Amino acid sequence: MQSNATLEYDYSIVKLYMWTAVIFGIVGMTIGVLIASQLAFPSLNYLLGEYGTFSRLRPLHTNVVIYGFTVSGIFATFYYVGQRVLKVSLAESKFLQALTKLQFGLYLIAATGLVISLGMGITASKEYAQMEWPLDALIVVIWVIWGIVMFGLIGLRREKTLYISMWYYIATFLGVAMLYLFNNAEVPTIFFSGGLGAWYHSVSMYAGTNDALVQWWWGHNAVAFVFTVPIIAMIYYYLPKESGQAVYSYKLSLLSFWGLMFIYLWAGSHHLLWSTVPDWMQTMGSVFSVVLILPSWGSAINMLLTMKGEWNQLTENPLIKFMVLASTFYMLSTLEGPIQAVKSVNAIAHFTDWIPGHVHDGVLGWVAFMIMSGIMHMSPRVFKREIYSKSLLESQFWIQTIGVVLYFTSMWIAGITQGMMWRAVDEYGNLVYSFIDTVSVLHPYYTIRAVGGLLYLTGVFMFAFNVFKTATAGRRLEQEPRYRSPMA
Ligand code: HEM
Ligand code: HEM
Repeated sequence: MQSNATLEYDYSIVKLYMWTAVIFGIVGMTIGVLIASQLAFPSLNYLLGEYGTFSRLRPLHTNVVIYGFTVSGIFATFYYVGQRVLKVSLAESKFLQALTKLQFGLYLIAATGLVISLGMGITASKEYAQMEWPLDALIVVIWVIWGIVMFGLIGLRREKTLYISMWYYIATFLGVAMLYLFNNAEVPTIFFSGGLGAWYHSVSMYAGTNDALVQWWWGHNAVAFVFTVPIIAMIYYYLPKESGQAVYSYKLSLLSFWGLMFIYLWAGSHHLLWSTVPDWMQTMGSVFSVVLILPSWGSAINMLLTMKGEWNQLTENPLIKFMVLASTFYMLSTLEGPIQAVKSVNAIAHFTDWIPGHVHDGVLGWVAFMIMSGIMHMSPRVFKREIYSKSLLESQFWIQTIGVVLYFTSMWIAGITQGMMWRAVDEYGNLVYSFIDTVSVLHPYYTIRAVGGLLYLTGVFMFAFNVFKTATAGRRLEQEPRYRSPMA
């Protein structure tokens, strides 16, 4: 074993996942801009025949940004943060090192399969669980390999205490494993169709209301264990590292961790309010959603207070800007979500554009900002080169911030307008508006959303260029940047 002083971390796997995050980010969000434009200008549906329609591209968008961009971000940051906080290098175990390469190979196969199958319209028809059983099985293998590497590194560690980020990565592993297995329990149709036919097709093990409940137990907790828990792991590591500040409160981090773990799992039925799910379950979902504000804000406030006395860094370092705004967006979406989970509010919000508005202030302002910040923090350290352009990063920040704001404000207005118009009745109880009336009222807001998305995507291209140039043309660094950004 190497000693502490000579520890050389192995970043080869980190770099591979960084690149896939960049590529899937570009692909997923380009499709996002296309479908946003299709909602504003429907003729764009007919550019590529059946392959270019909204119905084909929407699941492709959600799956590429979730399983491509976000999951790559999770693996890239875990392999970096894990080695460092555990003080163990992957190079110390040839077995674990080989497993990471195997995992990456399988991940590429799964991702390619995902794009091809969804592009062809092959789907299991459950949101965020559209992949058919062969791909599901592959994902289970990929996840198990991740678990072996994670616990292998924990077993080899030199640092006895598990840093906060590690709790969150472990929770991500366990949470997704449990939920994914339950929700994707399915029977391949081969078994009862009497022939090979569409061998890849399957039907869910559950039916009716049970199916809906299990589906949203997963759906909501995909938000928890893919869009929240690993992203908190990232901010607990990168913000203190980038700013040189110690985490504000260890106790608060403990409280919010266990609070989040306990409460999230009970809130899924807020996706099924006013449905055939038993009333008490709906109420339980609403109540747990409101209580969820506490642990969510606990983490976010802990992060903001970590910057106490050092707010000047906001003006010096664009990465601090990204991360502070990410915490703020996390607070916004975890206040907005509970509001939407109140039954009377949900009666207006459900099925309207306010929901994608809520989704995107979370995913663009919190998830994608943190993944990009993590990659930017790691780039000088893994490529041993200075960040190529600080001013490009600064411009990216402003362009993307304007993009997110345009996205969610237009969707707030569109959603509430829609909700109010759908339920408006005249003195005789007849509906005042027909469906097409709402569609024409919404047109300007859809256009604004598409423009916001385009701005955000422009920022993603700037980011990709900056990472690429850092890796290939950044000034060489003799030493790893200390705690402030190399640009500061
Ligand atoms: C340029 C950036 C993006 C644009 C323009 C965009 C656009 C869109 C559009 C138009 C929809 C469909 C909304 C509808 O059906 O009414 C959508 C759905 C969705 N997007 Fe994005 N998106 C972007 C980035 C992202 C990112 C980075 C993520 C996640 C990391 C994401 C996750 C989702 C999810 C989960 C949905 C489904 C929402 C729901 O069912 O309510 N998007 N996106
Ligand atoms: C306290 C935390 C949160 C609560 C209580 C909450 C609550 C809700 C509610 C009530 C809905 C609407 C269900 C409907 O009527 O269709 C929803 C949808 C959604 N939220 Fe949240 N939310 C929270 C945080 C977040 C965060 C931080 C993100 C992302 C980073 C997020 C992503 C989503 C997604 C993707 C959907 C759309 C699901 C779909 O219909 O496809 N939520 N949330």
